[in-house]
Amino acid sequence: MPSATLRDLLDAVPPLSAELSLNEVTERFQTGGFDRVLSLAIVDEDRRPIGLISRHALMELLLNKYSRDLYGKRPIRYFMNPEPVIVSLVAGTSTVVSTVTSQLKTPVVEDFIFTEADGRYAGLGYVADVLKLVEQRLAQRNEALAKANQEIKESQAHLVQSEKMAALGQMVAGVAHEINTPLGYVGNNVQMAAELIANVQPLVAEYDALFTELMNPEADGARIESRIGMLSELRQSFDANRELQDLSGLFEDTQFGLKQIGEIVQSLKNFARVDRATTDRVNLIENIETALTVGHHHLKHRVTIEKRFEPIPDVPCAPSQINQVLLNLLTNAAQAIHHDHGKLLIRTYVRDEFACISIEDNGTGIPPEHVGRIFEPFYTTKKIGEGTGLGLAISYRIIKAHGGDIRLATRVGVGTRFEISLPIAGVPPEQSADAASDLMAPVS
Ligand SMILES: Nc1ncnc2c1ncn2[C@@H]1O[C@H](COP(=O)(O)OP(=O)(O)OP(=O)(O)O)[C@@H](O)[C@H]1O
Ligand SMILES: [Mg+2]
Repeated sequence: MPSATLRDLLDAVPPLSAELSLNEVTERFQTGGFDRVLSLAIVDEDRRPIGLISRHALMELLLNKYSRDLYGKRPIRYFMNPEPVIVSLVAGTSTVVSTVTSQLKTPVVEDFIFTEADGRYAGLGYVADVLKLVEQRLAQRNEALAKANQEIKESQAHLVQSEKMAALGQMVAGVAHEINTPLGYVGNNVQMAAELIANVQPLVAEYDALFTELMNPEADGARIESRIGMLSELRQSFDANRELQDLSGLFEDTQFGLKQIGEIVQSLKNFARVDRATTDRVNLIENIETALTVGHHHLKHRVTIEKRFEPIPDVPCAPSQINQVLLNLLTNAAQAIHHDHGKLLIRTYVRDEFACISIEDNGTGIPPEHVGRIFEPFYTTKKIGEGTGLGLAISYRIIKAHGGDIRLATRVGVGTRFEISLPIAGVPPEQSADAASDLMAPVS
């Protein structure tokens, strides 16, 4: 909607002379066709406004039975408001709005006077119009705010998405590394096995040739003897039993490596599984193991992990979201440890109606002045590119959407303990579990 200009607010109602009598002014109000106006301006000989007389002030005066007789012939300047609100037409609309609204009396009984640039009377302005203008501006501002809010939401959604992609990228890199190690030695083993088999092959061929010779009814003793001679030569240079033992060892290792790869792939599948409904009960301890496998590259070599798992009942939740929370807590804990005797204590237990997981590290701890900020989106103390600061904001939202809670205790130089608790009975009906998928909404 186009905003009003000052000229739109102006009504060129003729002003009154200060010398007009009270009776004459009353008549003007009654017959002058000024239905809209609350008041009329009074000007001097130079058309400069010197006061305002309002319909309301006249009524008050005339309510008195004898006023007409007593004052009817007196000039209006005795009864006018000598300090009306005067606004120059050269002022900006916002000056008009602020001047008028700051001097508004409630209830509104007078309008205000517009003057030309030279200070002469230009017309009346209606307070009601100014109020409409204010309303219009507020509506415009609201619209702009709503638009800005929408844009923030969209860019936040975008960032959440890129955080997820970044986390995924990091995870994929870690997992690729995890798979690469067993894959490396499985590959080596297979090559060594191939060499061993190649070594055994001439021996087998020789045995085979000897066997054929022995089975031949026309066998010639000299040829058999020569075969036996070659065979014993081969046997001397080559211990077949040892080679076969090595081969079976290689196969055992290879099987172990393949099993490890299988486990990693299974964890990945669990981690990324499309969520079942949140009413499905999930074994949280399995989720912890999955998150530990997936986050292994952050943790190994750096920390020793102690698990104290008290039995907890299966909890209805969206497992991939809980995995995301656990992975973030484990990664945060590992990243907070800057020494080489890092420890992580992971516990599970039941408290009241909640299944709880606590993750405790002996890392840097969080200074008290920062504790209040860590759940804010984009709050991070990590280097650019290392953390987006969305991990805990998203974790908080996920846990709250599950009807649970996430809390922490921390001491600088000692460590930090995060605890998540999830209701064993599931998400209370008033907190829709769908909220868990609405990670886009800003965290309040
Ligand atoms: N276990 C912890 N020990 C010490 N500080 C922590 C711990 N967990 C979180 N923090 C602090 O809280 C901040 C916010 O954590 P959050 O997980 O939200 O973001 P981030 O880890 O910095 O980035 P991202 O999770 O996107 O990689 C961290 O930068 C860190 O300062
Ligand atoms: Mg984090």
